[in-house]
Amino acid sequence: MEERDHFGSKIGFILAAAGSAIGLGAIWMFPYMAGTNGGSVFVILFIVCTILIGLPILLAEFIIGRKGQADPVSGFKKLAPGKPWFLIGWSGFIFSFIILSFYSVVGGWILSYLIRAITFSLNGTSETFYEDLFNTVISNPLEVLIGQGVFIFLTIWIVSGGIKSGIEKTSKWMMPLLLIFFVVLAIRSLTLEGAMEGIKFLFVPDWSYLNWKTALVALGQTFFSLSVGVSAMITYASYLPKETKLGSSALSVSLLNIGISIMAGLVIFPAVFALGFSPDSGPGLVFIILPAVFKQILFGQFFLILFFILLLLATLTSSISMLEIVVSIGIKSKYDRRKRAAWVYGIYIFIVGIPSALSFGVLSNIHILSMSIFDFADFITSSFGLPLGALFISLFAGYVLSKSELSKELKLNTFLLHAWHIIVRYAAPVAIIIVFVQGIIKVFF
Ligand code: PHE
Repeated sequence: MEERDHFGSKIGFILAAAGSAIGLGAIWMFPYMAGTNGGSVFVILFIVCTILIGLPILLAEFIIGRKGQADPVSGFKKLAPGKPWFLIGWSGFIFSFIILSFYSVVGGWILSYLIRAITFSLNGTSETFYEDLFNTVISNPLEVLIGQGVFIFLTIWIVSGGIKSGIEKTSKWMMPLLLIFFVVLAIRSLTLEGAMEGIKFLFVPDWSYLNWKTALVALGQTFFSLSVGVSAMITYASYLPKETKLGSSALSVSLLNIGISIMAGLVIFPAVFALGFSPDSGPGLVFIILPAVFKQILFGQFFLILFFILLLLATLTSSISMLEIVVSIGIKSKYDRRKRAAWVYGIYIFIVGIPSALSFGVLSNIHILSMSIFDFADFITSSFGLPLGALFISLFAGYVLSKSELSKELKLNTFLLHAWHIIVRYAAPVAIIIVFVQGIIKVFF
């Protein structure tokens, strides 16, 4: 049998897993979701969901992946022969495919902004300059399609290079750099006049926002930003050697993800209030606020270029994990070679993503359930595919794997092992079902 490619070190794995987790979810989506869902209440729900539900299920994905030592479909078949659990793998295949189809659209916007930063065209003076610019970028069909295409091309290129050389190398230096950048930016944003309003918005709860819909959005945000529910982490953990400690890896990834999300909030919201923008500007929030903050910084233009490069890399380390799921499953069933599978699926994903890319311009009057095509693709994955995938992964870890197997894999102390087991057996599934059903009722009725 062919030897499986493996991660070279524990830190390499943590960084790659954190690289998959940290991306547009934490940096782009978290601020605008917090902005449109009442700020601090959303932040609190997100942190609670991450620690109590996201982290335990992330750990479950790590265990399943490493035990299976194969792509998610074959892995589940190996661990539970003759049972339908492998469908979790296929659901991961389908939903990763859909996520990447609209994720790459935003990746394309980042490329557009990067090129504008390099050519010094992000420097307007009028009050509505940044808002107008964002609308111009996302509604230009040629620009968004080229951006999306180039972004997918980069993703394919990295994935076809194999696990160790491509993914591990990129993540190792990108994550620490991103963190430093955020600290510097947050300091600048926090020292703007009027910044306190942003801090209040982010940390002083207005409980009138506490409802089931906010809970569902926060849960979806948790899964999306941790890359949980579509077998991404099962796929990565399948390349892990036996010795790696899974518990501490899952904890590191979860804390890093919360940390970067909060940092993104600390960069965005003080500036939103200080510079007179509105927190509920939606998907444009980061693209509108960040260039405005950089303008207030010495050598801002130069740092803005660097920042967009980092944001692009963070987005790529997430998109490669999505294509990796699709390729690792696809290779077995149809295409024998990794490179070819990466190209074939990458191109399909691009084609499926075209309507999402155009939904802010030429297709903007097409609505599904009163959502734009882009929002609908996001909705069915974040509020539907991910929670359901996470539910079944939790049930699998809680009921199918035996406790002795689990304790061998986990090497946690008995208390933590018990606590984790109770969560994946009872607490997480019940919480997901309640929030899911209530949230869906609120959305549809
Ligand atoms: N976690 C990634 C992000 O926040 C998105 C992602 C979701 C990646 C699901 C893989 C699987 O950007």
